[in-house]
Amino acid sequence: MSRIAAVAVSRLHRLCFPDDPWDPPAVTEVMSIPGFFGQIAREGKIWAGFALALDLGDECELLSLGVLPQWRRTGIGAALLRSTCLLACGRGADSITLEVAVDNTAALCLYERSGFTVAGRRANYYCRAGRAVDALVLRRRLVTAVPAT
Ligand SMILES: CC(C)(COP(=O)(O)OP(=O)(O)OC[C@H]1O[C@@H](n2cnc3c(N)ncnc32)[C@H](O)[C@@H]1OP(=O)(O)O)[C@@H](O)C(=O)NCCC(=O)NCCS
Repeated sequence: MSRIAAVAVSRLHRLCFPDDPWDPPAVTEVMSIPGFFGQIAREGKIWAGFALALDLGDECELLSLGVLPQWRRTGIGAALLRSTCLLACGRGADSITLEVAVDNTAALCLYERSGFTVAGRRANYYCRAGRAVDALVLRRRLVTAVPAT
């Protein structure tokens, strides 16, 4: 993902997370963190989703994942997650972690189906319309395949 993509990611983020929009400078700042990697999903000429992640060494963290409402349930979220896990594997990470609100049914279903399990809980982590919501910390172990010789 090039830095020029910050504007596109910002737009996608705003449409996917209307309660927590990230403006282009905020996205640029995230993209400048050492170890950042990310992807944008394209459907034809339309940028339909994104995944932002951070390489922390032994572990990678999925910072944000979103798919435009009109493109949901078409497999884009799962594809972005799969390819983020593959990129994390390629970077030598043993696992990938993320935080998700306890009431985010769609994301929880996607992550559970993709092999993530609960590793912890952060109380009152999100604030939505003045209401505190807990976050679950999810982790998936990554298996690295090496060529058989
Ligand atoms: C969570 C999100 C990224 C899923 O993206 P998506 O492209 O719709 O997901 P997929 O089409 O790849 O779905 C894969 C599987 O996840 C599960 N899933 C996805 N959305 C679901 C929903 N609304 N309800 C129940 N299960 C759901 C299903 O098992 C689905 O497989 P199926 O369609 O064969 O039943 C999307 O809903 C989104 O952008 N939400 C707003 C932003 C957000 O909450 N991001 C996650 C923050 S942690």
